[in-house]
Amino acid sequence: MKVLVIGPGGREHAIVRGLLADPYVHEVHAAPGNAGIAALVPTHQLNASDPEAVTALANKLEVDLVVVGPEAPLVAGVSDRLREAGFAVFGPSKAAAALEGSKAFAKQVMAGAGVPTAMAKVAANAEEAAEALDTFGAPYVVKDDGLAAGKGVVVTSDRGEALAHAQSCFDVGGEVVIEEFLDGPEVSLFVLSDGSNVVPLAPAQDFKRIYDGDEGPNTGGMGAYSPLDWVPAGLVDEVISRVAQPTIDEMAHRGTPFVGVLYCGLALTSRGLRVIEFNARFGDPETQAVLARLRTPLGGLLMAAAKGQLDTVETLRWAPETAVAVVLASANYPDSPRTGDRIRGVKKANALDGVHVLHAGTATDDEQKLISAGGRVLAVVGLGEDLVEARERAYDGIGLIQLDGGQYRRDIAAKAARGTVLLPSQDKANQDKASQGAPQEQEQAK
Ligand code: AMP
Ligand code: GLY
Repeated sequence: MKVLVIGPGGREHAIVRGLLADPYVHEVHAAPGNAGIAALVPTHQLNASDPEAVTALANKLEVDLVVVGPEAPLVAGVSDRLREAGFAVFGPSKAAAALEGSKAFAKQVMAGAGVPTAMAKVAANAEEAAEALDTFGAPYVVKDDGLAAGKGVVVTSDRGEALAHAQSCFDVGGEVVIEEFLDGPEVSLFVLSDGSNVVPLAPAQDFKRIYDGDEGPNTGGMGAYSPLDWVPAGLVDEVISRVAQPTIDEMAHRGTPFVGVLYCGLALTSRGLRVIEFNARFGDPETQAVLARLRTPLGGLLMAAAKGQLDTVETLRWAPETAVAVVLASANYPDSPRTGDRIRGVKKANALDGVHVLHAGTATDDEQKLISAGGRVLAVVGLGEDLVEARERAYDGIGLIQLDGGQYRRDIAAKAARGTVLLPSQDKANQDKASQGAPQEQEQAK
């Protein structure tokens, strides 16, 4: 099998690495890739969101499968054009990618499918925003309706700040989704779909804020680990039966089947499972942690999804280890990341036992030296017998890497390693049930 991977990031580096480990994959290409990907496979420079350019490259290379990594090409219709040209594609159509491209659309689909999510209102102006904020009360959650690379969401107890974020979206002609605050820890679950069948990968947890202790602004994600030893038994089955399968069925029913990976961003709240968001692609950096453990050949799996054959896939096999990914970001990320700084020590980190480095925003300069080229520069993945060892390895690795002004969190997976991730108590859930009737129904998407 010859595969083309579209995208420039750490997720794509993890996918390329996974494909190269698949004995049935004999050739991998990437476009545009990054310095780490270019060290593994041929890369091709193009605008990844240009459907014609991507299709022309796939034709020229005569690939058997195209894997579209990021949301922007999906929302731009790259998969549609490739399918028209006869390619097998892992990645949803433009219409199906709207599950990520519009938060308001995602809420409609969830309402149609009966999927539990936060109650929400769409606001198009300051007056509507103020009313919605007061309906739900603090803490306030205000989301840019469109794509914002994980940075369009403000969660704050400061009403002024919430209103200001909404206004900044209106100023550029956008709308916002304002919703109730969800308590409880977050889980990311990737569910592969061929349009009707679903296959879940292992749950992961992401760290969205820039600073330790979940302080500071939201980022694209500063670290991740998988699997999660603290989630309730049966969580994955519950997500499949209450979230993923109904959503995939609803999309098929609407005539816009979803083929690719449905990223279910979940909160385990005191009132039960709730969807925070859907994405139409693998998460970054969760993919770096999740794929590090996958032992089922990746190419065959993604091809089965692309061809409507996920029902033929056997139970997935996983390495027994735990994986922790720690992201190294550039100076001034996420506001206005500085690029062009030298990166040193990647080779040394890669040489450590149970450690590998996945590039994101990297490039090479005129002298072929590695330099930063984006906000999130790379992720160091540690695999270990347990979280303690996996963390140790990831942090030993990142400690060897030098980047001027580089920032990384010291507390990725720290709570879980100490066994102190708190699930909201069942007592609270029961009290809510007693005082409010059937919260499950009340809380569904409006
Ligand atoms: P999103 O882009 O929708 O994933 O939001 C980014 C982050 O904001 C999430 O990972 C959460 O940490 C936080 N967030 C989003 N929606 C809510 C909510 N309703 N309640 C609490 N936190 C939220
Ligand atoms: N890690 C969050 C995301 O990929 O959206």
